[in-house]
Amino acid sequence: MTTEPKNVQHFINGEFVDSIDGKTFESISPIDNAVIAHVAEGSTADADRAVEAARRAFDEGPWPKMSPTQRRKIIHKAADNIEARLDELAAWETRDMGKPIAESRSKDVPRTAYNFRFFADFAEQQHTEAFPKPWENVFTYTLRDPVGVSACISPWNFPMMLASWKVAPALAFGNTVVLKPAEQSPVTASILAECFAEAGMPEGVFNVVQGFGPDAAGERLTTHPGVDLVTFTGESATGRIIMANAAQTLKRVSFELGGKSAAIVMEDADMDRAIKGTIDGIFRNQGEVCLAGSRLLVQRSIYDEFLARYIEATEALIVGDPRDSTTQIGPLVSTEHLDKVMSYIELGHQEGAKLMTGGQRVTTGELAKGNYVAPTVFADVDNSWRIAQEEIFGPVQVVVPFDTVDDAIVLANANRYGLAGQIWTNNLNTAHKVAQEVRTGTMWVNCFFIRDLRAPFGGAKDSGIGREGGKYSEEFFTESKAVVVQFPS
Ligand code: NAI
Ligand code: MG
Repeated sequence: MTTEPKNVQHFINGEFVDSIDGKTFESISPIDNAVIAHVAEGSTADADRAVEAARRAFDEGPWPKMSPTQRRKIIHKAADNIEARLDELAAWETRDMGKPIAESRSKDVPRTAYNFRFFADFAEQQHTEAFPKPWENVFTYTLRDPVGVSACISPWNFPMMLASWKVAPALAFGNTVVLKPAEQSPVTASILAECFAEAGMPEGVFNVVQGFGPDAAGERLTTHPGVDLVTFTGESATGRIIMANAAQTLKRVSFELGGKSAAIVMEDADMDRAIKGTIDGIFRNQGEVCLAGSRLLVQRSIYDEFLARYIEATEALIVGDPRDSTTQIGPLVSTEHLDKVMSYIELGHQEGAKLMTGGQRVTTGELAKGNYVAPTVFADVDNSWRIAQEEIFGPVQVVVPFDTVDDAIVLANANRYGLAGQIWTNNLNTAHKVAQEVRTGTMWVNCFFIRDLRAPFGGAKDSGIGREGGKYSEEFFTESKAVVVQFPS
């Protein structure tokens, strides 16, 4: 791959364009903090231009009226193009946000293609309800129409994959889209636009506007009267702002927000699987995972033994250049985020947690140029401490002991988030009890990170509003219409 910085533009109305005012910003690689791309910086005016294109494509273009089968063909062609560019896309994802290349190649890029295929196929199978009342000669049925212009605002931790959870159902159900990728990881969204353009997508149906949120392109998408719905993944604090901004024009919103999910390990768990799963649960993607099991609750009877083995497994993780195929932990996305994670480690010390391993940056050789943090484990943590309550979003685990399953459930629920969770046990009753009583969007039993795209995905409490996946996405991205027919008796 070239080391020249790439020029990344907006994609509006079927064309790659610069910002109206010509402004750009730099995308920095967390590997060495070098500039890897000059990116068009979208202003309010650029967002307006993208929304106008999407509006026209929705109101006058062929896309919403096409059959799902016709749409499916184009979306599958785009997925073919994504797969054909696997190496390039994976390399950019890794350079732009630091995720290990093994992940980008085996998960992020293939799953992005799969998400498009899944929703294109799902939409083709669409069926609706009927409410017949033959005794009154009245027959009511529903139609589902696309909603309109969808603003899709995505985060940097799984840039393409999380964008595709939004863009794929939006398009498959006949909406038009303006995607605003995160400013930390802009590059692959622009390549995605190429994949769609080359697939024969009609102009204006899929648009990408690059840039920042507040007072810029992102915010404008949430206030523009021409936007019908906003789907957002990011921080809970941002979700609050977006909801307030979108209220003026009564937009439909769907939010996937932060988490601080409890991973509960019972004394009867399969210890090997529990260690492997809860290590993956916090350290995958350097801990930059909304679903992370970032509060590890361990039953006191096995606490010491479990912890000793957990530390051993943590210390075996390979921190390194994410372009190296053996690397398991790459650099944190930005120096700002690095500072935030390091400040939480400092806070852990202040709150009285016991540092078991890690706790510092990794600066050996070339790694000194990047944002690397050693996988860190704090033990003997009190669930009420800030390091156990707030989302750190880095490779920092906090371990909290408990006595009974009821105690564990109380601890799991004593947090403002409710995104996910794990229960590690060989007792069927315990598994179901925890799944039932923890207030959360997803509960994994003896596993982590597995997702079926037909199942609801989203968060309880401060972790979100609405659900994505299969028919849940269909609900959000379509407008139900009741058609009432009465015929003469
Ligand atoms: P963020 O909230 O800072 O930014 C996310 C996106 O929103 C970016 O594209 C940003 O430019 C845009 N944005 C920021 N302010 C805006 C505004 N006022 N109006 C419109 N757009 C705005 O989140 P970040 O730091 O990029 O991502 C990390 C967060 O995302 C974590 O809190 C994590 O838990 C959450 N997340 C949640 C997931 C879920 O499915 N629940 C999945 C992945 C991440
Ligand atoms: Mg970047």
